[in-house]
Amino acid sequence: MWEDLEVTLEKVDEGQRKEKPSQDNLGFGVHFTDHMFLMKWDREKGWHDAEIRPYGDFHLDPAAMLLHYGQAIFEGLKAYRRDDGQVFLFRPADNLERMNVSAQRMCMPRIPVDKVLKSLKALLYLEKEWIPMAEGTALYIRPTMIGVEPFLGVRPSGEYYFYIILSPVGAYYKEGCRPTKIYVSDEYVRAVKGGVGYVKTSGNYAASLYTSEIAKKAGCTQVLWLDACEHKYIEEVGTSNIFFMIDDELVTPPLEGSILPGVTRDSVIKLTDSWGVNVSERKISIDEVLAAHEQGRLQEAFGSGTAAVISPVGELCYKEKNYLINKGETGELSARLFAELQAIQKGEKEDSFKWTVRCG
Ligand code: COI
Repeated sequence: MWEDLEVTLEKVDEGQRKEKPSQDNLGFGVHFTDHMFLMKWDREKGWHDAEIRPYGDFHLDPAAMLLHYGQAIFEGLKAYRRDDGQVFLFRPADNLERMNVSAQRMCMPRIPVDKVLKSLKALLYLEKEWIPMAEGTALYIRPTMIGVEPFLGVRPSGEYYFYIILSPVGAYYKEGCRPTKIYVSDEYVRAVKGGVGYVKTSGNYAASLYTSEIAKKAGCTQVLWLDACEHKYIEEVGTSNIFFMIDDELVTPPLEGSILPGVTRDSVIKLTDSWGVNVSERKISIDEVLAAHEQGRLQEAFGSGTAAVISPVGELCYKEKNYLINKGETGELSARLFAELQAIQKGEKEDSFKWTVRCG
């Protein structure tokens, strides 16, 4: 069981390793490193057969339950290589603990956080050369759990795979950290309270695609979701949480079960609070945002997430009208937060919250 989970290692021969991509144009989630972590779970053995092995396909029965009933959860976190060659993770235990919250809601087994973190560090040690160092780049880490038992009845799977893959990345949005145009959906919704909105489960992302395509056609990068009951209160952007600066109050929607409890969201709240910013987690309606815009009180808006880091919002599109925010430019607080988070992650600034964790 967990206590004696041994990790075996199968390395790719030096001569067989992939060529590393140029760091100038990495994109997001396009390239994958040479190795991955995989472990298996069943009712009898718990987690077992943990291995670091060559990145590649694994066997899935066509009846594997995740393919039919969607038992799949994941996380996203990043590793950074500093100028002195040391590798650091940003708040890794928070992501792995959040995965256990997702697992509980989706009737999946808990992962042993300490063991997984140790295995992740070992994997990163092996893949150190893959961690890009250019400005705005990082190694994105994708822990994933899927239900793999071949069975067509509807109940929790009795077998799971947990794996971690690594991808050197640049900015998530094509705009980089420049302002994005966001489509406010007044018709389709992402999640309801009591549902799985707070869970990082694949189905939430699948359900968002249709509206994302509508947003793209309207020239927008992402969808800003409103609540499912009244289509009135702001929720999140799907790939990130959202913040509005109105009258010097930084507002973000509260965690009430339908939005993801973002690790970057939490970092933004703690950082801004420490800077003396008046930051509130409270309900905020789209009408309040638009009224503030109309009256010149909406100073800036931005999304926060692991992939997106801090992503300024330059424009909102709602009911076929466009609302430019901060003249479409990056706001002062967005820029400060982006710079501060990057500096902490890269070890260029003091990490007073003890968020970074050294590997090895
Ligand atoms: C992340 O920020 O890590 C995410 O999971 C967002 C997205 C790429 C799905």
